[in-house]
This record gives sequence, structure tokens and C-alpha cells, in this order.
Amino acid sequence: VKRHKIALVGAGQIGATLALLSGMKELGDVVMYDIVEGMPQGKGLDLCQLSPVEGFDATFKGTQSYADMKDADVVIVTAGVPRKPGMSRDDLLAINAKIVRQVADGIKTYCPDAFVVCITNPLDAMVQLLQEVSGLPPNKVVGMAGVLDASRFRYFLAEKLNVSVEDVHCLVMGGHGDTMVPLVRYSNVGGITLPDLVKMKWLTQDELNKMVDRTRFGGGEIVGLLKTGSAFYAPAASAISMAEAYLKDKKRLLPCAAYLTGEYGVNGFYCGVPVIIGKGGVEKVVELQLTSEESAMFKKSVDAVKELVAATPK
Ligand code: APR
Repeated sequence: VKRHKIALVGAGQIGATLALLSGMKELGDVVMYDIVEGMPQGKGLDLCQLSPVEGFDATFKGTQSYADMKDADVVIVTAGVPRKPGMSRDDLLAINAKIVRQVADGIKTYCPDAFVVCITNPLDAMVQLLQEVSGLPPNKVVGMAGVLDASRFRYFLAEKLNVSVEDVHCLVMGGHGDTMVPLVRYSNVGGITLPDLVKMKWLTQDELNKMVDRTRFGGGEIVGLLKTGSAFYAPAASAISMAEAYLKDKKRLLPCAAYLTGEYGVNGFYCGVPVIIGKGGVEKVVELQLTSEESAMFKKSVDAVKELVAATPK
């Protein structure tokens, strides 16, 4: 069997972590593209030298040439600049749009059959641009946001309730911004929903509301601490879980920024919704019956995404 090929565009904080995780999970051979000369080559060589210690076989190649992405099975895009304190994801729009256009051209030329995961912010606008410019089928281009947002919420709950993170499941919908919609009704600990846990007095409604808010601003909290960039371990792990679901045809049900064609009343935009990821890419968008309150929150989030897309330089 041929090893899979994973192309990482952007070999910064997230890109390097993607490469490490990809190696540790033996997902395939890795190509790391970055405009900074020598940097992806250096990180690649370092990772090659880690592989004997960890005992996995994979190659890591750094490059400044898109041609090295040829026939990649998966492309994960982090090229761009991250947030600095005081910057919103939207401030990144103009700078990152230009970069994402170049990346999309590279994908179109060298690996049009790949499954593409976008991480570059502002996520919902960048994933849309990546799909439009690359011309890849929308079901093969997704944005990583919901898995990360849900994972943050899962961690906060596990920590508060003193239970294993493994048993906490959360669903977060909407755009990857402050208007995201953590769905408490669809979040649970070992099958017991959060509203039930409030009734059982495991936590108060007020504590739950605070956790929802902390989740919404989870990225900003880390930017505030790091000061020189944004989160990278959890974003990388989240994207790897999506890539793995595709490569291993796992049919995982994960919240991702997916292209909507009428689902949830949204047509022609990317937004965070639960989807099934398998060998066909996004194989299904899962449509939930939202309450009127949840729908209103989701609509607000979609409106924010639409504004962002409208503000994206064409
Ligand atoms: N082509 C390829 N790579 C580029 C380009 C380009 N045109 N422009 C910049 N880069 C590279 C940078 O050289 C850098 O190595 O993208 C990399 C980004 O890495 P970091 O600055 O470390 O940022 P990171 O934390 O990895 O985040 C990347 O993901 O979460 C989002 O908001 C975040 O948009 C940001 C992205």
C-alpha cells in the first residue's frame, strides 16, 4: 500500500504541530510549504530525526515550491498571519485573503483531488475563498473550527465537573467567532445532557453560562496570554482529527465549517454545522431541529459570516 501524502501549507506554530501529530499518528508522508526559506526544511529535518525515537516511518520535506504538493491526499492550510492582542479575527481579513488566494491556486494546479482543511482565520471567509478560487468541490473543502470550539467547551466542563474529558461531548455550531453557538442541549457527560446536570445540581445555570462564554472567547483568552500569536496545539489536533476521519473513512460526526446548500436555511455560504466526514469528504450535513432561541443565535452567527464574506477583497 502506498503511504498517504499530507501537504501542510504554512509551517508556523500550527503547521509544525500538524506535522508532529501526523507523524505520531502515522498518517503518511508530510510536505511542509512555507515562504520563509529554510524554516520548513529545518523543521522537516528535525522531525525526521525524531522519528527513530518515536518509532514511526514517515518523510518530512520542507519546500518553497507548490509543485511538491503534487497529488497530496490531504492539504491543511495555516498560511497567513495569526492574531496579535487586540486584533479580532476579522482584522486579519485583508492580509490573509491575499495569501489564501495563492494557496488555492497551488492546490488547483497540483492536487485538485485532495481533501482540504482550512485553519487560516477569519475561518469562515477564508474557507469560502479557498473553495471558490481553487474550484474544488465544496464537499472536499472544509474549515476547522467546531472541533476546536467543542474541545474547549469539553475541557472546561470536564475540569469543572471533575470527570474525564473522554466522557464529555459538546456540539458547537455557527461561525468561528464570538457569535458561535455552543448547544448545551446537545452537549452531555456520559449521555447526561447539560440541562439535566443543572437539574441534578452538578453545576448551576450561572456556571454553565460562564463556561459557554469562556468557550466563545476561548481563542482570545490564549492570545491574551501568549501575546505573540494564537493557540496552536488544540487547533492542530482538531484539524488532524478531521484529516484522519477522511483518510481512514471513519464517518466521524464532527462540527466543521461546511458549505451549505439550503440546510438550516443557508444557501451558498460556509458555516459551522455537524457533518459526517469519510472518504467522500463531507458526506452529509446533519440537520438538527433547533429551538427558536437556538435558531436565532445561529442566524446571528450566519449574518456575521455573511458580513465577513462580503468584506473579503475580491
Ligand atoms: N504562503 C505560505 N505560507 C505563508 C504565506 C504564504 N503566502 N504567508 C505567510 N506564511 C506562513 C508564515 O511564514 C508562517 O510560518 O504562514 C505561517 C503561519 O504560522 P504562524 O505565524 O506561526 O501562525 P499559526 O499560529 O500557525 O496560525 C496560522 O491559523 O489559527 C489561524 O489565526 C491563525 O490565521 C492564522 C493561522
